[in-house]
Amino acid sequence: MNIILLGPPGAGKGTQARRLVEDRGMVQLSTGDMLRAARSSGTEMGRRVAAIMDAGELVTDEIVIGLIEEQLQTSRGGGFIFDGFPRTLGQADALGDLLAANGAMLDAVIEMQVDDAALVARIVARSTCGDCGEVYNDQTKPIPADGRCTNCGGATFNRRADDNADALTTRLMEYYKKTSPLLGYYYAKGDLVSVDGLGEIETVAGAIAEALAARS
Ligand code: AP5
Repeated sequence: MNIILLGPPGAGKGTQARRLVEDRGMVQLSTGDMLRAARSSGTEMGRRVAAIMDAGELVTDEIVIGLIEEQLQTSRGGGFIFDGFPRTLGQADALGDLLAANGAMLDAVIEMQVDDAALVARIVARSTCGDCGEVYNDQTKPIPADGRCTNCGGATFNRRADDNADALTTRLMEYYKKTSPLLGYYYAKGDLVSVDGLGEIETVAGAIAEALAARS
């Protein structure tokens, strides 16, 4: 299956994508992760996007579509999870074209619904393993007392530069202005399924599994 996880910053897209990778052998394509890798590798493109990301604005369609195109040509597995992509109508059109060119199609677009207050609370409490990217939360999924990642045993944890109140306000505005129109776009195509993203991580995972079972 090829699916999109769609939702505002902090909705839990990355958390659920990692579970789907583990449970179903799917391939997670996170444009946020790709852009963070580019910026830490010090490439010209990485330097260009760093300031945009830190401010909470969207990187150009051209750059992110290029990243996805490259991954679709090189990655193989039990279907793709598009995490944080597409984020504009232009990106959505491009994804449709890229999938069609690869003889593939989209099976479902899962909207993860979470209210703004919960998003803010989640994001300011987030950290990730510096080695494997496992996502933690000071309130709901704290780093173990031994200071070791449950997934890989790593001992370095990072907080993202854009996980602050100013950047988050911009990220939410970008979502409502440029990304939320995709809900209507995919609803009209019959691809949209909405799940309540406010429950426990396990409960949300169960709702996504049910939604995918209904589409397969
Ligand atoms: P990106 O990295 O995609 O960030 P985002 O969309 O803002 O989403 P987040 O990663 O912040 O949240 P998430 O939904 O994955 O939540 P998570 O699972 O971590 O993008 C970053 C930037 O890159 C953008 O601002 C933009 O500049 C650029 N960019 C990326 N893609 C782009 C594109 N396509 N076009 C243009 N620009 C692009 O969970 C959050 C926290 O909540 C964690 O602590 C987690 O443990 C916790 N949590 C998760 N689920 C639950 C739950 N059910 N209950 C309680 N806590 C939970």
